[in-house]
Amino acid sequence: MQATNLGSIERKKVTTQTFQAMKQNGEKIAMLTSYDYSIARLVDEGGVDSILVGDSAANVMSGYETTLRIGLDELIYYAASVVRAVKYALVVVDMPFGTYQGDPYAAVRNAARIMRETGAQAVKIEGGIEIAESYKAILSAGIPIVGHLGLTPQSVNKFGGYGLRAKDDSEADLLVKNAQLLEQLGCFSVVLEKIPAALATKVTQSLSIPTIGIGAGNGCDGQVLVFHDMTGINDGFKPKFLRRYANLADTIRTAVGSYVADVKSGDFPNESESY
Ligand code: KIV
Repeated sequence: MQATNLGSIERKKVTTQTFQAMKQNGEKIAMLTSYDYSIARLVDEGGVDSILVGDSAANVMSGYETTLRIGLDELIYYAASVVRAVKYALVVVDMPFGTYQGDPYAAVRNAARIMRETGAQAVKIEGGIEIAESYKAILSAGIPIVGHLGLTPQSVNKFGGYGLRAKDDSEADLLVKNAQLLEQLGCFSVVLEKIPAALATKVTQSLSIPTIGIGAGNGCDGQVLVFHDMTGINDGFKPKFLRRYANLADTIRTAVGSYVADVKSGDFPNESESY
């Protein structure tokens, strides 16, 4: 087990067992997305417990409108780059749309490819009882899974948008049952996306595995945000649940503008920047 001293904080490699211990100790889990080597290194050094190589890469890295457009080879490429950078955080990789629904044998083959070709520690898949056979097949291969319930963006065409889920009793009841099923099947954590805070708290209290919320209030065992959203790179995206910790879009535009001005004026490079 890796350990180091970052200031006064001793850091160890986070595992699925660490997630379980954090739930038991009431320690909140901090997760962020990353998709490339350089940012993943900084995110890991910043102290997150877990990095998600999310299929949100389709949006923030590739410019697609939905997450349905990214494939297995692309996510494997991103995830392998992240894993090369990370020393401490538990790396979880999203399984892309179409790689785990329907055929459980294909699901386990695709999950195994992710684990073998990236070196990540777990995969994440979206859905409940309707994909129970895929959960079972992947878990039976010894591959840890984070489930994902509530707003599941790969089902955007079924939902007709990205609105709040589980507002009515029947969808809320189904979500509670699905969360319990995922725990029984053996998932080590569940992401709850864009559901009422009271429901997320109820689910969290009813499970022995940790919940990770996004737009699901403060009662979850942990939180996840997309790196490009929380750092303000993706500056057009302003949902109510998002807290911005930086305004990198302005910082980058200003830096690029200064560089362009210096090149145009002949100020860059100067003598000390030349051989
Ligand atoms: O793809 C992603 O980034 C995600 C998080 C928003 C949970 O699934």
